[in-house]
Amino acid sequence: MSGVIRITDVSPRDGLQAESVVVDATKKAELVRRVEASGVDEVEVSSFVSPKWVPQLGDAAEVFDLIAPTKRDGVCYSALVPNVRGLEGAIVVNRDAREKHGVERLIDKVAVFTAASEGFSLKNTNATIEETLERFAPIIPEAHAQGLMVRGYISCIVKCPFDGDIPSSQVADVASRLLELGVDEIDLGDTIGAGTPDSIEQVLLDVIERLDGRALNDFGDPTLTLHLHDTFGNAGACIERALEVGVRSFDGSAGGLGGCPYASTDTKRAPGNVATLDVLDVVGNAGLTTKVNREEMVQASIYAGGLIG
Ligand code: HMG
Ligand code: MG
Repeated sequence: MSGVIRITDVSPRDGLQAESVVVDATKKAELVRRVEASGVDEVEVSSFVSPKWVPQLGDAAEVFDLIAPTKRDGVCYSALVPNVRGLEGAIVVNRDAREKHGVERLIDKVAVFTAASEGFSLKNTNATIEETLERFAPIIPEAHAQGLMVRGYISCIVKCPFDGDIPSSQVADVASRLLELGVDEIDLGDTIGAGTPDSIEQVLLDVIERLDGRALNDFGDPTLTLHLHDTFGNAGACIERALEVGVRSFDGSAGGLGGCPYASTDTKRAPGNVATLDVLDVVGNAGLTTKVNREEMVQASIYAGGLIG
């Protein structure tokens, strides 16, 4: 195996979106700076979603304004957008950053998100899978016209807290639809951490077969990313298997913070993301490298943990 593995840290977004503690914008900005200082390729900073749905991230524009003056060359900043209104929020942030801080492009990538399960899609976005895809249709060309890359998340790739087991062919169907719509990257989310190395491999193989070489993008990034939550301690073994299959891009969260509020049920809270440090360790053990400085990520993880007590 060879290659430098691409690492996205999602702690400022996925890490903080479900916490009962609402972290103030200056601390979120500091988390972004510390995570970024570790050398990760991408930081998922926040979401332009309805503050009625996710009040914890209602300050996305403020956080971006705070980090604009310190953005490191080469790092990619991204944010979730569920609809055109969300994309407009991201565009306004970029315009303000240009005018106020002279930053040519603050947000580099927007992420649209759907699911392989109808139950989760409805809970998370009040829309069927088909309706989410209809929402994305105008977002993707406009994002590209603004010079933004587009990540397409698919949640519940193994199991849904409401619909149960999800066939991998269903994940491949949604991946194929997202690519037809023009996303630059597919991010496969094991939202409740139900995956095992075998089930994750099955999903990956089905998706890769369906993409059939169409997954090349213009931005030089690996196109398929894996986004794991770590409920049963299987995430490391799943990443190891994904590396063997050929995946070269992974999400992690400083301090293992995280979880989607709409993946929680009455009896079970959604689990945290796999810790970025764990991802680094698995990658290192496989003889591969990343651009991340482990000691800096240790410091960022301590800071992240301190934010939620
Ligand atoms: P809705 O209630 O059906 O839509 O929500 P609506 O159009 O009726 O809007 C409701 C209110 O929100 C309205 O305000 C809108 O104006 C406002 P009101 O008129 O009542 O005052 N609104 C917005 N405000 C700011 N920004 C916007 C926006 N859109 C509407 N963009 C909606 C539909 C999609 C908006 C809602 O369901 C939503 O925001 N959902 C987001 C849920 C979310 O963020 N979940 C977590 C992220 S996904 C995840 O964690 C999984 C992932 O990590 C991968 C994995 O682990 O699997 C990515
Ligand atoms: Mg997630």
